[in-house]
Amino acid sequence: MITTPLTRWFDLTTPVVGAPMAGVAGGALARAVSQGGGLGMIGVSGRHGAGFVTEQCALAAEGELPFGVGLMIWTLADRPELFDATVAARPSLVSMSFGDPAPYVGPLHDAGIAVAAQVNTAADARRAIDAGVDVLVAQGTEAGGHTGQRALLPLLQEVLPLTDRPVIAAGGIATGRAMAGALVAGAAGIWVGTALLACAEGLNGAAARQRILAASGDETVLTRAFDVAEGIAWPERWPGRALVNDFSRAWHGREDELVDDAAARQLVVDGRRSGDPAHAPLYAGEAVGLVTTERSATDVVRELTADAEEALRSVPRLLA
Ligand SMILES: Cc1cc2nc3c(=O)[nH]c(=O)nc-3n(C[C@H](O)[C@H](O)[C@H](O)COP(=O)(O)O)c2cc1C
Repeated sequence: MITTPLTRWFDLTTPVVGAPMAGVAGGALARAVSQGGGLGMIGVSGRHGAGFVTEQCALAAEGELPFGVGLMIWTLADRPELFDATVAARPSLVSMSFGDPAPYVGPLHDAGIAVAAQVNTAADARRAIDAGVDVLVAQGTEAGGHTGQRALLPLLQEVLPLTDRPVIAAGGIATGRAMAGALVAGAAGIWVGTALLACAEGLNGAAARQRILAASGDETVLTRAFDVAEGIAWPERWPGRALVNDFSRAWHGREDELVDDAAARQLVVDGRRSGDPAHAPLYAGEAVGLVTTERSATDVVRELTADAEEALRSVPRLLA
């Protein structure tokens, strides 16, 4: 058992958070992570409705263990009902990412819900601390899905001295040794997305899970091309890390041209509908090459923990 301020706060047996991943992390995945002793989270995007939030939270709550919900701040101006449904579901933790968390901290605290904020720069971290969030998540650019430009380790080292609140490390962590490394570096826990992408409890279909298992770590691209194609108004500072495919090879870096090419954009929209891997985005981080077997999320969390314990036990041997 590994204890940190995070495990004590949420009554966990391991400081592993299952990242909120819109389109992949629903209530079943969150519940399976929590059953492994960590904290499972549900990912919500602007494509979802309030009903999705309510249903998935009910599924996660069946585990009778703590779980969380991750919201994308920039989507909430048009979709306030997503925030309201989240508060009504009473998760233990709500993560407010990709924007200024300040307006949401008070209402969440009033409802007795702890607040995390994913940050991509030291300036983001200062803003989140000023807003009164309880937990910071330093998200490195190695991460799958939408992310910033800073690598995890330098970002984590800059964020840690800014606060005495728990800081969780996100991005590129998919082994127990890396988990141990993040904890030794000062993180209170790890926030894991890509390592869970091939779990059957997630919302990825069998074909997507097979692509994840087959992909190597040098086959990802940080790009806005898919968002431009799908007409999703992601702020430009957060591109998305996805597996390279025919579409990203053709259009990454040519987003300005893509805006005016309706036929090319339609390829992605159609690809999403038909599940065409050459054109649909499949978001995944640089750790994807480490995901080689399909396991339950509960087993992923347990194995990370056991391997991290072993790695931590070996640390004193380094001191000659
Ligand atoms: C498929 C996918 C979807 C994601 N969706 C969200 C999301 O909805 N909200 C969010 O805050 N982060 C999202 N993320 C980012 C994760 O919260 C997390 O930062 C990331 O997965 C950690 O890095 P890793 O993928 O290397 O483990 C997503 C990541 C992936 C891979």
